[in-house]
Amino acid sequence: MDNNVARGLKEDFPILKSCTYLDSAATTQKPRQVIDAMSRFYSSQYANIHRGVYKLSQEATMLYEDAHTEVADFIGSEQDEVIFTRNTTESINLLSYTLHEILPKRKEIVLTELEHHSNLVPWQQFAKRHGMKLRFIPLKKNFTLDYGAAEKLISRNTALIAVNHVSNVFGTINDVERLVSLAASKGALSVVDGAQAVPHKRVDVKKLGCDFYAFSGHKMLGPTGIGVLYGKRELLGKMPPFLTGGDMIRSVSFDSAEWNDLPMKFEAGTPHIAGAVGLAEAIRYLQKIGMDEILSWERTLLKAALKQLKGRKGVFIYSPGTEKSSGILSFNLQGVHSHDVASILDERGVCIRAGHHCAMPLMSKLGITGTSRASFYLYNTLEDVKRLVSGIEHAQEVFA
Ligand SMILES: Cc1ncc(COP(=O)(O)O)c(C=O)c1O
Repeated sequence: MDNNVARGLKEDFPILKSCTYLDSAATTQKPRQVIDAMSRFYSSQYANIHRGVYKLSQEATMLYEDAHTEVADFIGSEQDEVIFTRNTTESINLLSYTLHEILPKRKEIVLTELEHHSNLVPWQQFAKRHGMKLRFIPLKKNFTLDYGAAEKLISRNTALIAVNHVSNVFGTINDVERLVSLAASKGALSVVDGAQAVPHKRVDVKKLGCDFYAFSGHKMLGPTGIGVLYGKRELLGKMPPFLTGGDMIRSVSFDSAEWNDLPMKFEAGTPHIAGAVGLAEAIRYLQKIGMDEILSWERTLLKAALKQLKGRKGVFIYSPGTEKSSGILSFNLQGVHSHDVASILDERGVCIRAGHHCAMPLMSKLGITGTSRASFYLYNTLEDVKRLVSGIEHAQEVFA
């Protein structure tokens, strides 16, 4: 990809005519192709799935099942190992209510200091319910994880590791393959929070070797309300269901029920069918460009921003550097609250995030209340970076 290609892609996103959008780590904008696919589905293909004998319902069922296949091919899994949830948060909560029956009977869960609340609070609650303890792989000064410490922390006492693949605060790409393999060598299970990874880089869950992997559709050009939980078939088969009711059963009597095959066992009730259709279209869009191209373009944008901001007086940057990162730029301006930076940029039509980024423990570790965060995606251009840098310079002048 280059700047001309990015400019061209921008044309696919109607909303980008009205703003410079640099908050894709929070959620991404949607291309016409995704909006049209969902509109087409509601206008001419819509019916409930798995129930109707009529053609319309059978076609809707096919679209919903094809979306599982599209996701499975995208992440290198089997179709029945892909469970549709609402988002990453629900995928992790699903695990936190069903994993206890298959975890080794040990006392510790290992996380990192870099977790989003979605991959922390569910495990805090899990640990309370099951009398377990959380331990944390520490962050180093260069904004990467301390793998030496991880080697000591992950032990025969570890029942589970739950780690993020890419940090939503720094963009750091963590070596989850190493952590997962370490966990497996000690007989522990592994959960990977891939909310910031799948939208930005190639992910192959079989290659990673993890037991479970979670991500959200809305962060990868898809609609809100559809997320994914990948799980190894043999583990999902042994786990109890999370929600019970319609669609997740094979047969029901007055006093008991038998569970359906995967993935239906974990998809109780009428799912977000249009969301699945939109997500499949989003994946086709991403694949047309290529995930390696996307990551490389994000890094080009990050590099351009870092070149103009690094070393600038009063600018503190929280980044492991482009080679270890996706397109996320967290920073603070001396003497200026991150919310004020975001407000000043907003006056110029530049949307960035400010605050704790749902990582409050990490903020306390850094001794700050928050950062400003610009996050780049495939539809951002070098002109967007220019507007960001100029807005930052303006904020510094206003607060000088
Ligand atoms: C690393 C990470 N994990 C989990 C989440 C939660 O995602 P969702 O709100 O889609 O459930 C986010 C959202 O920002 C995130 O960045």
